[in-house]
Amino acid sequence: MPFYESFDKKELIAAHRGWQTIRPENTIAAFEAAVGHFDFIELDLQLTKDDVFIVMHDASLERTTDAALKFPNKRAPYLVADFTLEEIERLDAGSWFLKSDPFGSVANGRVDPKSLDSPKSRKIPTIQETLRFGAAFNMPLNLEIKRMSHRSGEEVAKIFLKELEEFGAPVTVLVSSFDHSYIKRIKEEAPQTSAAALFAKSLPSDLEGYLLNLKAEACHAETAPAPQIPVSKLLKKGISSALYTVNDKNLRKELFRRGFRALFANEP
Ligand code: G3P
Ligand code: CA
Repeated sequence: MPFYESFDKKELIAAHRGWQTIRPENTIAAFEAAVGHFDFIELDLQLTKDDVFIVMHDASLERTTDAALKFPNKRAPYLVADFTLEEIERLDAGSWFLKSDPFGSVANGRVDPKSLDSPKSRKIPTIQETLRFGAAFNMPLNLEIKRMSHRSGEEVAKIFLKELEEFGAPVTVLVSSFDHSYIKRIKEEAPQTSAAALFAKSLPSDLEGYLLNLKAEACHAETAPAPQIPVSKLLKKGISSALYTVNDKNLRKELFRRGFRALFANEP
């Protein structure tokens, strides 16, 4: 069943990298915090040197882990692609949140530092651990595959589908990417996998034709090109539209009125 058809609700709010204002982004703690507050979870995937998908937004480990401390010698710029899973599992992906306090939620007392003192707040999840979380909590997941230069599109799609197959248990998943060659290959190999094409500031001139050619069930875009998205026309072809990142409640109302199915947000 296409991802967006699995919801009874019409207007959906997705937790962008988990509930990242109160827990370190892209950790199981951020995903668990989102349960009951958001309708689904968006997260980012990168491939390790030994071809395991892990949950990480940046291509480099530097911003959200202690990689530079744990591996001080000649590993800069600390690309995920240069580290094995065994090395990545030694890293702390939570302490940066306490130190940088990216949303001021520690300083203003919203987040008790003690609540971050758990392995779920510190560990970088693998895709398998994330799928287990999704199945256990019955939480739909939007898995965004980040663009990678150390593997071909064919390899990325193959590894991704192997990971899904390996998991096996039922979990509601939507794959998305800015690299549409991944989407194309995944849909060719496994047409039953729900997929979204991601866009930033600009859209193809024939958006409908482009998405139909990709066989994508969804169009995910930044808010800037939203006025150019023919939401109802796309829906008639079975394509749902979603926007990132929308935190303003009035803007959410307006976008839902226009027919957008989902909005990615940092707060419920
Ligand atoms: O999937 C939408 C959005 O997450 C894309 O931007 O940079 O937060 O991954 P980014
Ligand atoms: Ca993302």
